[in-house]
Amino acid sequence: MDAYEIQAGSGLSSLKKTNRTSLPLPANGLRLRMKAAALNSRDLSVARGQFTGLQPHPVVPLVDGCGEVVETGPDVTRFRVGDRVIPTYYPGWLDGRISPHKTAASFGVQIDGTLTTEMVGPENGFTRAPRNLDDAEAATLCCAGLTAWNALFVAGAARPGARVLLLGTGNVSLMALVLAKAAGLSVLITSSQNERLQRARVLGADETVNYRLNPEWQEDVLRQTGGTGVDLVLEVGGEHTLPRSLKATAVGGRVVVIGRLSGGGDVPISTGALIGGSRSLSGITAGSRTMLEDLIRFVEVNGIRPVMDTRFSFENAASAYEHFASDRPFGKVAITIDS
Ligand SMILES: NC(=O)c1ccc[n+]([C@@H]2O[C@H](COP(=O)([O-])OP(=O)(O)OC[C@H]3O[C@@H](n4cnc5c(N)ncnc54)[C@H](OP(=O)(O)O)[C@@H]3O)[C@@H](O)[C@H]2O)c1
Repeated sequence: MDAYEIQAGSGLSSLKKTNRTSLPLPANGLRLRMKAAALNSRDLSVARGQFTGLQPHPVVPLVDGCGEVVETGPDVTRFRVGDRVIPTYYPGWLDGRISPHKTAASFGVQIDGTLTTEMVGPENGFTRAPRNLDDAEAATLCCAGLTAWNALFVAGAARPGARVLLLGTGNVSLMALVLAKAAGLSVLITSSQNERLQRARVLGADETVNYRLNPEWQEDVLRQTGGTGVDLVLEVGGEHTLPRSLKATAVGGRVVVIGRLSGGGDVPISTGALIGGSRSLSGITAGSRTMLEDLIRFVEVNGIRPVMDTRFSFENAASAYEHFASDRPFGKVAITIDS
């Protein structure tokens, strides 16, 4: 089988195509013919050595993927040959409360991931793919999609009609935008570029703010919500955006902390805003398999399609990484593997 390997911390140039022997199939295992994979911000962090739990040896990268089951171990009960499946972010986190044990391993970081023609893994680490999506679209759900779902509807507990603030037009925000609109939420989104804000409006965004032209963008958010603020913020910015996000949050609202696009340093937080304003602040990491299954049902019922930027061939995986790292894609960058 053909697979890519990357040496964590050695940069994008360490991505190499290689030939590996097929792994033996465990009793609870699935053998997949991989159809597609997709890139996430964390995959660049892995390459740059900025992610926790990195391995000293080369690993097959990426967690987003979609494959067809070609062989099942004798103990497998949830899948049959021919099923189309996608990985869960943490194969050990099936349901319930998060724990260090459940999140000890993620595909493409501690264990081999999806950028390969053949993948072997425990059946518990996979769910069926959504019927309404093609392979590359289905491959985009398990990281940014699952995180957006958890942030909006699990940690964020958003109800129809809630006002949600999305920061920038990256993968998590665009996934959240399409999910939020399907759920009847009101979406306010920021971007550094008016052209991207226009595209967000076409996708259903209700209000937009250019954070480059308006460095005090939280003031615009307050103005656009009649001085009240939003019910929920999906905080992907970190160090330089989190204090502003808190100011843009309504009394009783929530900030779900997801990422560190603007920096990962410590942040001064107003305890008064949390206590007197009864605001809550919570961090999340991806989500459980149950959350992913809920997301898949929601995607099917509502005919949701992820925003796609570019599809690269397996042979051109290095170009996919370059495009993702350098060109600020609008939507997911996918790699088709067996088309
Ligand atoms: N906790 C989790 O489980 C989890 C899961 C997925 C991702 N993450 C993290 O969440 C963050 C976002 O991930 P992603 O995949 O959406 O990243 P991404 O696709 O790489 O996001 C890129 C976009 O971020 C926006 N951006 C950059 N700096 C910004 C700033 N200071 N303020 C507002 N927007 C800014 C830009 O939007 P414009 O071009 O519109 O300006 C840019 O196009 C990353 O830090 C990632 O590591 C965490």
